[in-house]
Amino acid sequence: MKAVVQPGIHQPAQFTGVEKPSAGAGEVLVAVRAAALNHRDVFIQQGLYPRMKLPIVLGSDGAGVVVEVGAGVDPAWMGREVVINPAMGWGDHPAFYGPDFRILGMPDNGTFAEFVKVEAKYLHRKPEHLSFEQAAALPLAGVTVWRALMTRAGLQPNRPERVLITGIGGGVALLALQIAVAAESEVWVTSGSAEKLSRAAELGAAGGANYRDPDWVKALMARTGGGKTGYFNVIIDSAAGPGFAKLIDAAAPGGRIVFYGGTTGNITDVMPSRVFFKQLTIGGTTMGTEQEFADMIRFVADHRIVPVVDEVFPLAEAEQALRKMEAGRQFGKLVLRV
Ligand SMILES: NC(=O)c1ccc[n+]([C@@H]2O[C@H](COP(=O)([O-])OP(=O)(O)OC[C@H]3O[C@@H](n4cnc5c(N)ncnc54)[C@H](OP(=O)(O)O)[C@@H]3O)[C@@H](O)[C@H]2O)c1
Repeated sequence: MKAVVQPGIHQPAQFTGVEKPSAGAGEVLVAVRAAALNHRDVFIQQGLYPRMKLPIVLGSDGAGVVVEVGAGVDPAWMGREVVINPAMGWGDHPAFYGPDFRILGMPDNGTFAEFVKVEAKYLHRKPEHLSFEQAAALPLAGVTVWRALMTRAGLQPNRPERVLITGIGGGVALLALQIAVAAESEVWVTSGSAEKLSRAAELGAAGGANYRDPDWVKALMARTGGGKTGYFNVIIDSAAGPGFAKLIDAAAPGGRIVFYGGTTGNITDVMPSRVFFKQLTIGGTTMGTEQEFADMIRFVADHRIVPVVDEVFPLAEAEQALRKMEAGRQFGKLVLRV
């Protein structure tokens, strides 16, 4: 079968022929119709993860059709249109994952291929309102968003709050905007691009600020009426770095700041007194449990949320898509049609 293989660190991904997998006991084979990129795929190319295993077929996100079921798998899955939960082996404790946790697309071969083999328990029916390309854009970002917003930050669909999402051009951030808007919260965003801020407004953002402006928090507080106290009950961030201290000013007393990435490096210059006098909660989050994935899929289906797809590339052009992601030119997900 054809697949996109990462041969080694700091090398271009190769579109090449590899052996077609087959479903073992408890497993299924999915004919992938669409796969989507995550920043993780670029980080794998750069060798930034602790237990690197190369060569590997890249890809955590995929949607397709079940074409083979292994022993012990309900045959009703055959022919079904599915999305795959890439967060595998979470374990028994909902607060943190156990030692068997892994993400599809390293150490196991991933979705940038004609076929992918997964355990049947990670299959979910594709929401009917989504195309394969749109559905492929959902899994990794969706489960990350759901846990960050609902579990870790404690947002509730029937209790709207004031939410800030930073770096809205990111795949996870954009889906966080869509889910928080569907949950009826008042959502503000930041971006390094004026064009992305106005596109976020079209998706329901109440407003935004450019994080390249050193005074963006002051400007945003002036616009929202947050003043010196802060305005946002919930802040979702993946940039971290020296700019994180500004989020503490933007948070309302009792606010919850949840971050899932460290794109701009280590968090510095946070004044402890700002955090404890404001009674802030700062939490990290990664991926999510099987229950959180199922809850996310149900919410997306119920609210007919359509993930934003920036561009669809043929599978053979995965390397070009990876370079576009690295350059950060996208607004929404980069998808591969298989
Ligand atoms: N822990 C987890 O479970 C998990 C899951 C998914 C992703 N992540 C991590 O989260 C990060 C984003 O992933 P992604 O796939 O969404 O990547 P992505 O689509 O490439 O998005 C990256 C975004 O970061 C934003 N950004 C850059 N500099 C910023 C700054 N100084 N302040 C605020 N935002 C800034 C940019 O937003 P603008 O374009 O709007 O300027 C950019 O679009 C990565 O570090 C990734 O590894 C973690």
